[in-house]
Amino acid sequence: MSLRGLINARIVLSVVLILIIGGLMAIWQARQSVQKEINSSFNLALQMIDLSFSYPANRMLSEQHWMRQLSTIQQTRHIHISLVNDDGSESLWLTEELEQEEEEMPPSWFKLAVTTDYPSASYDIRLMDGSTKTILIRADPIDEIAEAWSESLAFFWSIVLMMTVIFIAINLVFQSMLRSVHAILAGLRRVESGEYGKKLPSFKISEFDAIAAEVNNLSEALNIARQNNQALARHTMHIQENERQTMSRELHDEMGQSLTAVKAMAVATKQPQARINDIADSIIDICNHLAVVVRSMMRTLHPLSLSDLGLIATLTDLVTEWQRRHPALEIELNYDEAIDWLDEEVAIHVYRIVQECLTNVVRHAQASKATVSVRRHLIRGEEQVLIRVEDDGIGGVSEGEGFGVLGMRERVESMGGQFNFESNPGHGVRVRAWMPFIEKENDK
Ligand SMILES: Nc1ncnc2c1ncn2[C@@H]1O[C@H](COP(=O)(O)OP(=O)(O)O)[C@@H](O)[C@H]1O
Ligand SMILES: [Mg+2]
Repeated sequence: MSLRGLINARIVLSVVLILIIGGLMAIWQARQSVQKEINSSFNLALQMIDLSFSYPANRMLSEQHWMRQLSTIQQTRHIHISLVNDDGSESLWLTEELEQEEEEMPPSWFKLAVTTDYPSASYDIRLMDGSTKTILIRADPIDEIAEAWSESLAFFWSIVLMMTVIFIAINLVFQSMLRSVHAILAGLRRVESGEYGKKLPSFKISEFDAIAAEVNNLSEALNIARQNNQALARHTMHIQENERQTMSRELHDEMGQSLTAVKAMAVATKQPQARINDIADSIIDICNHLAVVVRSMMRTLHPLSLSDLGLIATLTDLVTEWQRRHPALEIELNYDEAIDWLDEEVAIHVYRIVQECLTNVVRHAQASKATVSVRRHLIRGEEQVLIRVEDDGIGGVSEGEGFGVLGMRERVESMGGQFNFESNPGHGVRVRAWMPFIEKENDK
């Protein structure tokens, strides 16, 4: 059910409830006031009759006289007076009809609901000619009931009018609210379909404005993430191409030349006065050189020792190699023995992150010392591998646009971990990354 339908249903329900309760109260009120009015009119009429006919002498008065008296009493509202003859027949005796205000006649159910037991009284009078007549006094509530009916009707219509106004007002507000909701939904659909350019406008209602701002932020964040992904994908392909080029050049330069040399020497051995010993020495030199080249190429492609010797040995080898190539930089490596149990997928991420951090330290930091630490930690109740690489270099850089840092972040986040790059001017750079500590299958 839509929000609008729900609210409208609630309003209709409330109106019906108010009408039922209000109607019952109005009927009860009318009943009370009719009763009160009738009683007081009746008592007044009785008092007047008492006054007029209390002296025995009066009871013997002429017909015109008591007729006059009765006409006065008949003026009292809500009273009906009739005369009953000796023989019990009721003579329809009516004074001139009181000019009734033109009031709408109430429906019979209303009359029934409002009517209670009303009093009646009778008086015997003796006429001068010796006959007796009885004056019958009864309550006649119809004009009072009619009055109550018209008041109830007024009450009913005023409630209907009020509810109609409220109904229209609420629906007008809803109209504008729903327009905002539709605009926000359209914005979300655009985000869903990857259309990040079009922003949501601001809205007059502050809640909607806040939602729209969040949707815009979300769309912006997704846009940046998509751009990063695209850039990273392009960069990865670029690197792949470069690596292939380097490989092919090295194969051509090193292997090709060496093979040609070996072949030339093999041909030379066929000469009658070939200096076999010298040629053999040359071939051994070439083979040694080739072994170095092949090992270096293999290390670039994949640290083989990772699966053979484990993460600790591979990291130690990496740090030793960097230390040998950059003696001015002191590199410290700390680790827990447990990191050797790491699953190879996590281990290769750890290795590449340390490698990229050391490359950055050498390339950008102008540092004298770098500390690498890879440890197992309990973070928020879960085993994590925590990598920290700190240097004492120039620092003062933000995470920046480089692909190295971005690639590290992607690696860590792809494993459900977290990455943090901190840098203060003059205090070097601190990179921290933690990922779930996934152990090797067979070591469990
Ligand atoms: N250890 C560091 N010390 C100082 N600056 C650094 C360090 N690491 C990274 N940076 C800065 O962050 C930038 C981004 O690094 P990175 O993403 O690895 O890209 P790249 O190394 O290809 O320039 C670097 O260009 C450099 O300015
Ligand atoms: Mg880099």
